[in-house]
Amino acid sequence: MKKFYITTPIYYPSGNPHIGHCYTTVACDTIARYKRMQGYDVMFSTGTDEHGMKIEESAAKAGKSPKEYVDEIAERFVQLWKYMNISYDRFIRTTDEHHKESVQKIFTQLHEKGYIYKGEYSGKYCVPDESFWTASQLKDGKCPECGREVIDAKEEAYFMKMQPFAAQIEELLTGSDFLQPAARVNEMVNNFIKPGLEDVCVSRTTFKWGVQVPFDPDHVVYVWIDALSNYITLLGHENDKHDDMHYWTGSEVMHMTAKEIVRFHSIIWPAILMGLELPLPDKLYSHGWINFGGKKMGKSTGNIIDPFVLGERFGVDAVRYQILREMPFSGDFDFTNELMLTRINTDLANDLGNLVSRTVAMVIKYFSGSLPSNPADRTSGDFDDELIMLATGLREKIDALIDVPQLSQALAEIFTVISRANKYIDETTPWILAKDDEQKPRLAAVLYNLLETIRICTSLLAAFMPTTMPLVWAQIGVGGDDVTYDKATWNDGFAYTVTKGDIIFPRFDIAKELAEEQS
Ligand code: MSP
Repeated sequence: MKKFYITTPIYYPSGNPHIGHCYTTVACDTIARYKRMQGYDVMFSTGTDEHGMKIEESAAKAGKSPKEYVDEIAERFVQLWKYMNISYDRFIRTTDEHHKESVQKIFTQLHEKGYIYKGEYSGKYCVPDESFWTASQLKDGKCPECGREVIDAKEEAYFMKMQPFAAQIEELLTGSDFLQPAARVNEMVNNFIKPGLEDVCVSRTTFKWGVQVPFDPDHVVYVWIDALSNYITLLGHENDKHDDMHYWTGSEVMHMTAKEIVRFHSIIWPAILMGLELPLPDKLYSHGWINFGGKKMGKSTGNIIDPFVLGERFGVDAVRYQILREMPFSGDFDFTNELMLTRINTDLANDLGNLVSRTVAMVIKYFSGSLPSNPADRTSGDFDDELIMLATGLREKIDALIDVPQLSQALAEIFTVISRANKYIDETTPWILAKDDEQKPRLAAVLYNLLETIRICTSLLAAFMPTTMPLVWAQIGVGGDDVTYDKATWNDGFAYTVTKGDIIFPRFDIAKELAEEQS
């Protein structure tokens, strides 16, 4: 069985999760579900990155110990993923004992191999971001990542050498399709590789909340070795908790992050792996940001949207759909309620919802709910070929788009077929066919083609919207084997029996909703 390993970043539990975190996790969930449908043995991981000064500070502010503090927020992430129907296989916390044990071994090995050495760090330090910067990296004298003030700081620290890996990293970035979208490759090469890769500071003495450097207890392992290693410690690298490194060594490996941490994943992480003589991941997709009011949604800006609130109001699948559909492959998007409501009404309520309810209603009205399954009892006619061709070719298109991954485009392709099916109803005018008994076989074919199209589209959509698609299936009378990946292509011999059901995606009165939001 082919294997596939997909990871989200491990999130900082320094505040409650928001819709920005949801994007990456829902995107990974969709891919994981799709790959499972394709028959892959999938490992899908997520988790929380719980060490560091920021957490220490947030905990102190909340009057809690760091561990109490992270326990609470990590639980909030777990609850959110449950709520969003995220099918992860493993949740790692960097405070897990087996993770800490592995990180200590990894650090020691890199030290013993001469890749980690002790030095002194002096530079410009951004306290909220816990990042040191060189003077040339600053933007207008401020932190290039968050735009805040930096301070002069100096400390004894361990460093990881980058030069031994520079050529291989450049080759990885420029000679393969590892990093997507490709535009990020130039950013990495121009900003970091061309100016010469600098050694990376990998320990701290200024705070205690972290994994201790085993041979120098004044130091804690600085965030990136601790955090990035999660991708292998959760599989059991250098610990006895798991024995799943086959998902790393004998599998397709895909990391997903947003763009602000692409440098760590495309340069530092490969360097660590090279130092450990482990294989490199196959793909890193770094998507854009969900912005709100023109700024990246984030804890530090405070402009966050609570996914639980959105889910209660619109339904979890509608939220999943909207963020996946709206995020362009290589840009950002600005979240607004209006955009969300418009998407729900147009795509889910009108296009998909109406297609299902109209089709089901017609099968009930004209055939008492059951269509003839024998193709001989159906007559093909105008407009059939185009619809059948579109629905038949859909799975192959989605396969390719999931692999990039271009999830928004994948949804656009599925909804093109759904729209085509709606147009097909207008073209074939079943209500006119129904007036003439001789046209019964033609009418049966039209409705059959519609149900087949719905079955194929919703089988593929189930990876994106896993809660609501089974509700559609209940209405068109399919399930189990009928909605597998293997069957997500045209089939002439289904025996369809439909049942009227509730509206799956209710329409919203946009003006009223927006007015309520203002009040
Ligand atoms: N702990 C590090 C990651 C270590 S991974 C080895 C971290 N944590 S974070 O909590 O700040 O999460 C950052 C990630 O959350 C982003 O890379 C992205 O996946 C997701 N997002 C957080 N806010 C987001 C948006 N506003 N928009 C899109 N994704 C967002 O960095």
